[in-house]
Amino acid sequence: MSDEKYIFGIDLGTTYSCIAYVNEHGQPSVEPNSDNELTTPSVVYFEDETNVVVGKSAKDAIRTDSHRVASKFKREMGNTDWRFEVDGKAYRAQQLSALVLERVVEDAEKITGKTIKDVVITCPAYFGLAQKKATQDAGELAGLNVRYVIPEPTAAAIAYGADQKGEDVVLVYDLGGGTFDITLIEIAAKSLKVLTTDGNAELGGFNWDSALADFFVEKVAEETGADAADIRNDAEFYADLLLISEEAKKTLTNKQTAKQVFLYDGERVRAEVTRDEFNRITKTLLDETIDTTRSVINRAKEKSGMRTPNTILLVGGSTFMPQVEERIAAEFPELEIKRNDPNQIVAKGAALFGLKTSLEDRAIEIYNETSDKAATTLDEVDEEKKIEILTKAGEQYGLPAAKANDLGGKSVQNVTSRSFGMKAFIQDLNAMRIANLIHVDDAVPADVTQRFETMENNQRTVDIEIFENEMRTDKVNSVCEESSSVPLAQAVLDLGGPFPKGSPIDVTFKLSPDGLLDVVAQHSETGNKVDVQLRIEGAMTDEEFAEAKSTAAALTRSE
Ligand SMILES: Nc1ncnc2c1ncn2[C@@H]1O[C@H](COP(=O)(O)OP(=O)(O)OP(=O)(O)O)[C@@H](O)[C@H]1O
Ligand SMILES: [Mg+2]
Repeated sequence: MSDEKYIFGIDLGTTYSCIAYVNEHGQPSVEPNSDNELTTPSVVYFEDETNVVVGKSAKDAIRTDSHRVASKFKREMGNTDWRFEVDGKAYRAQQLSALVLERVVEDAEKITGKTIKDVVITCPAYFGLAQKKATQDAGELAGLNVRYVIPEPTAAAIAYGADQKGEDVVLVYDLGGGTFDITLIEIAAKSLKVLTTDGNAELGGFNWDSALADFFVEKVAEETGADAADIRNDAEFYADLLLISEEAKKTLTNKQTAKQVFLYDGERVRAEVTRDEFNRITKTLLDETIDTTRSVINRAKEKSGMRTPNTILLVGGSTFMPQVEERIAAEFPELEIKRNDPNQIVAKGAALFGLKTSLEDRAIEIYNETSDKAATTLDEVDEEKKIEILTKAGEQYGLPAAKANDLGGKSVQNVTSRSFGMKAFIQDLNAMRIANLIHVDDAVPADVTQRFETMENNQRTVDIEIFENEMRTDKVNSVCEESSSVPLAQAVLDLGGPFPKGSPIDVTFKLSPDGLLDVVAQHSETGNKVDVQLRIEGAMTDEEFAEAKSTAAALTRSE
């Protein structure tokens, strides 16, 4: 298999990143990085003006040089106002993520001997347009060709589904380092359909570390007589304490007690924590994930057409904590618990998705080369022919026919995590509101047209203002306050002359599988229309992108 056929999958995590590819046997695989670890801390250390370090050593530098270390920047993806400042330079989250991507890609190139260019990168299910675009930009900044940005739970379900025969309705419970999400997915032989998704973008293993750090602060205060607030405000000590707490947390995954020695203000303090104590101080955090899980299950029960789960798939490094599985088993005895490399499964699923799309592209090429008809998607090809061309495409990838047919032609359907609407006068409320055309959990792609009317006599133009919000509803039409929506774009529809009040305007929202929104407003009488150009708030301009590239070129990266 030549290098260009390989698409690598990358899980760009808040705390750890992971890269996978699909080997010659059709099995997704993660190779150890140059620190001999399967995942790489998403941490960047600006050692001096030109040298930047990524990964484990960067994380260790938090102990000595915390103000030169950037971490958890995934939370700032697409945030226009956020910068990490060091040596008089300001870095966006995209640029820092690009450095992480470069590191994991270089390591994987060394170990696999392959040149990596095409990648599928994952992002949280709740990422909006700006954040997805930022993820894509991070990849491009790292010199990669980002074929797709797909949701993390979908990727996890793809990897799980690849080993699964038959149908399953799965809850993907993903508790990572910085985020928690819970996603209901229906898996069948030839399809994978996301039904609903929820979660908390600010809840992850890091919160467990912080809870344990605060526990240790109290212990140090007791032993030394120092004030707990002073200990917490000692930035260097606290940064170190967080790292120690993460280690202690991991120890408690395997042992009942974790023992630590701290050096505070010249005094040595011995402290220990038992698993029971740890579970007690972090109970409210776990409670939140259980409550959200239950609300997703209830939503599935209440919503017609939505199926209830049989299985719960544990994803994310924090599901290694025994408290997670124990609690889930106790709360949801009806669910079968599955886990399969929780901290690699997302990257593996992304790699499988990449291979699936390559196989399909190649199969279509084979079809178009060998038949007198032309097709653009596999849906246009009859079943028998589909098997033939997917098998042939699979051969070129060294894949067994069964594997190629399993993966190729599988439809993957996501849902939107945002609602999209237009600003309009709502008669019933006698007020301007955002009238949503597309709602959270609607399947993508989506294509919706709604009729609006002009508001005044002799109106010559119509203002079209498009907004994004997080309103969740079962109603076909819903309205949302402008104050809880984010403006995406505006345009003016020219009617070409004065028209009476109540002239019909048809507005069409098309949401692509990538989550890109295309809006057209058309005056039904004249056919005059306007294509609304979406301005993605938070996306980098071409100049900013070029500048970011040149800033990166001035850095040498090491491990
Ligand atoms: N053995 C273990 N026991 C307990 N926690 C662990 C263990 N191994 C890893 N973790 C925790 O898992 C978290 C990292 O998980 P993961 O790699 O899935 O997160 P991520 O992908 O970076 O985050 P996110 O998905 O939120 O963006 C960290 O908080 C880490 O401390
Ligand atoms: Mg993750």
